[in-house]
Amino acid sequence: MSEACKLAAGNWKMNGLRADIEEARRLATLFKEPSCGILLCPPATLVAAMADAVSGSRVMVGGQDCHAHVSGAHTGDISAQMLADSGARHVILGHSERRTDHGETSASVAAKAVAAHAAGLVTIICIGETEAQRDAGDTLAVVLSQLQASVPEGGNAANTVIAYEPVWAIGTGRTPTLEQIAEVHDALRAALPDAAISLLYGGSVKPGNAAEIFAIGNVDGALVGGASLKAAEFGAIISALEEA
Ligand code: PGA
Repeated sequence: MSEACKLAAGNWKMNGLRADIEEARRLATLFKEPSCGILLCPPATLVAAMADAVSGSRVMVGGQDCHAHVSGAHTGDISAQMLADSGARHVILGHSERRTDHGETSASVAAKAVAAHAAGLVTIICIGETEAQRDAGDTLAVVLSQLQASVPEGGNAANTVIAYEPVWAIGTGRTPTLEQIAEVHDALRAALPDAAISLLYGGSVKPGNAAEIFAIGNVDGALVGGASLKAAEFGAIISALEEA
């Protein structure tokens, strides 16, 4: 754990209906005075209702993507200002599923981050190598170049969080070794524009491996997919982070 703020962030991806907002309420009841940040990023359809449901609690709500423009002819897109207006405090940007499914590049991520910061949102910028890149020994070169190109001018600890998510560890149940996570996080810390930026690890974080991952020096929390959908399971990960 570094001096940066601890954050447990849940990425619901394309999961969740209105009834599932109950899980956010449960988390708010379980963690009244958490010693770390707690964030849920549901699909855009649930942002406003979830933000209303947990208002006054310590659970924060975020989006999963935003457009680089404030408004205009962009059918199907959502602006950072709209997310903020719905009660979001954060937005995930450049998740590998968006880089793969929607052709997002580090340059487009940086443009979205500028818009998000202008709207007052904290960006959670995702970076990570594919399995082929790791096998080729390119992991550090890949993540450092993604970091450099994805974080815009003015990115600092107040408006930016970085999530290191190896693409091959997302949703697979496979994780890097603790030494491999430490190697990447140490390299990222040294390259950050502001050393106090929080560094999250993401990719198959579960209650069973959270404590050992949070014991790594430069890991400040996690971006959690599947295990964030239920308050009981995500709660166990949050507890591990509180204790780290
Ligand atoms: P996972 O997803 O925890 O289900 O592996 C993490 C992520 O994609 O953010």
